[in-house]
Amino acid sequence: MKIKNICCIGAGYVGGPTMAVIAQKCPHIKVTVVDVNEDRIDAWNDANVENIPIYEPGLSQVVAEARGRNLFFSTDIDKAIDEAEMIFISVNTPTKTYGVGKGMAADLKYIELSARQIAEVSRTDKIIVEKSTLPVRTAETIKNILDNVGNGVKFQILSNPEFLAEGSAVENLLNPDRVLIGGEQTEEGKKAIEALVEIYSNWIPKDRLLTTNVWSSELSKLTANAFLAQRISSINAMSELCEKTEADVEEVARAIGSDSRIGPRFLKASVGFGGSCFQKDILNLVYIARSYGLQEVADYWEQVIIINNHQRSRFSRLIVQSLFNTVSGKKIAFLGWAFKKDTNDTRESAAIYVADALIDEQADIMVYDPKVRSEQMYADLDYLDSRDSAENRTKLMAAEDPYAACEGAHAIAILTEWDEFKEYDWKRIYENMQKPAFIFDGRNILDLKMLRKIGFISYAIGKG
Ligand code: UDX
Ligand code: UDX
Repeated sequence: MKIKNICCIGAGYVGGPTMAVIAQKCPHIKVTVVDVNEDRIDAWNDANVENIPIYEPGLSQVVAEARGRNLFFSTDIDKAIDEAEMIFISVNTPTKTYGVGKGMAADLKYIELSARQIAEVSRTDKIIVEKSTLPVRTAETIKNILDNVGNGVKFQILSNPEFLAEGSAVENLLNPDRVLIGGEQTEEGKKAIEALVEIYSNWIPKDRLLTTNVWSSELSKLTANAFLAQRISSINAMSELCEKTEADVEEVARAIGSDSRIGPRFLKASVGFGGSCFQKDILNLVYIARSYGLQEVADYWEQVIIINNHQRSRFSRLIVQSLFNTVSGKKIAFLGWAFKKDTNDTRESAAIYVADALIDEQADIMVYDPKVRSEQMYADLDYLDSRDSAENRTKLMAAEDPYAACEGAHAIAILTEWDEFKEYDWKRIYENMQKPAFIFDGRNILDLKMLRKIGFISYAIGKG
């Protein structure tokens, strides 16, 4: 089966970039990305491609090339579903905030809504591709809805999880380590798998296209994220021990990373991992394991989250303790708010939790982030619901430039590893701060020796 028309429900961080690259590489396929959020679709259609709603290096060029040719963004969901032979579901699956599984399980409300809409609208057979990260066996739910609500139309469900990392999404899509496609092991299932394999083969070597059964594919995505997050919590756990023993966590990471069985990547100690995936997916894994009665398995993975929370809170405690046990009324400058560099995404960013803890201690926070706007910072803080939003607006301010953010501050905290922070005139910053001037590098990106020479009292993660 040759696919000529694709629809993707959800124009977010995953759906947008993925479809843009598919459209760029497959000019013979019409790709329509739909979303319930009209503002978001308008932004994707903005005449100036620099205004698309997601910042990713290289993405606006890809959109510029394909948009209007075979890439379309629309709010007419029914029409796009009706016309497509293959439908990607790429809506968000946040952690449940209510009812059974609250705070742990993935909320599949939007997945179910999408499935129901597909069932109601479809008049021809379709292949449905799960792109969102889902609990293992979700395909079963989707199939159930499609088969029971639909009007006799046949559906095949594939799992095709996304492994792209934000900030390098386009590069990951163009040149992935692997693409995973899970499908039913029946004749129709295999045909559906083949149809998706054919799309990716337009630019990805066949040996990187792995096909499995649906359940392996669904579970592999959760497992991959759990393993990656576990490496960060492992090195972060060691960072606290390093601080007590005068070992240097970067030296330890280099030493263990050169063992080819361990490998060097994902061993950067930090103030804690953030992002929309790691915490959500691990909580979901823990919930699934518990629901099968696998208590030890659940506890094992939960520890990755416990260490991550600990890493954030011990960073804010270190700031308070170092500033003579009080930050009340003191100005603390934050450099960085995004959950990592080269993205404007702030979901689950450590900065939010560190700011919240310091505001509880009555600190005044002034943030500079090259890509994040102040409204986003307030939305993130308000979401935690620790105090009313008017108070958040008096205790946290955003600065337009880093020097203004640091002026008159008692301390600086680095929360995101933006490259530009390394290039600042640190002497100038020091001169305009309160003394003693403290700096807390939550990302280990600055040269501690240089800072100490200037006069800063400096702390970094995992350095005694
Ligand atoms: C993705 C995945 O789908 C998620 O499972 C994964 O774990 C993280 O990445 P992401 O693309 O980052 O989510 O989410 P988001 O940027 O919130 O985009 C989802 C989009 O779906 C939003 O624009 C939302 O408006 C849209 N949506 C949601 C619909 O169009 N219909 C709905 O019913 C629900
Ligand atoms: C992650 C996975 O990498 C990706 O494969 C999956 O599809 C989605 O989740 P993402 O959340 O975009 O991607 O970013 P990632 O680069 O993995 O970083 C996650 C967090 O871990 C960031 O806050 C980052 O700063 C932190 N991190 C990463 C560390 O603290 N140390 C490291 O060594 C690596």
